Amino acid sequence: MSDILLLNGPNLNMLGTREPNHYGAQTLDDIVNSLNALSDQAGLTLKHHQDNSEVGLIEQIHAAHSDGTRYIIINPAAFTHTSVALRDALLAVDIPFIEIHLSNVYKREDFRKQSYFSDIAQGVISGFGAQGYEFAMDVAIKHIKQQKGE
Ligand code: DQA
Repeated sequence: MSDILLLNGPNLNMLGTREPNHYGAQTLDDIVNSLNALSDQAGLTLKHHQDNSEVGLIEQIHAAHSDGTRYIIINPAAFTHTSVALRDALLAVDIPFIEIHLSNVYKREDFRKQSYFSDIAQGVISGFGAQGYEFAMDVAIKHIKQQKGE
């Protein structure tokens, strides 16, 4: 069981070398390390999972339902624009979540403006690069502490 589940979708394992003009120079390990430090500081636990397939992501979301996960931060990557199955998984578990994108998807191709998650997310962060993940952690930590009455 972990308090926060961080999910990253397809091709995000390539961060650092993948289209740095859109996604920046930081690797996924860099991002996860800084988020682990933030959760440690807050006395919370973080689990990270990156997957290039929908199945792997959906299974993690299902597991979160039974293991007491309190918050999900998800960058669904390309599945943002295609995946009804991933949307349905998040609806099924009813755990609050943030949709995050490194790039500002509204400044890019039209197909990236369509998301299957934004209307069911607690909020959306898009366009702040790796820093956006830190914003999302801040929200997740405050949400959990508030729920615990701290
Ligand atoms: C992304 C934006 C998506 O459109 C794209 O398919 C990605 C990454 C982002 O973080 O900016 O893979 O989610």
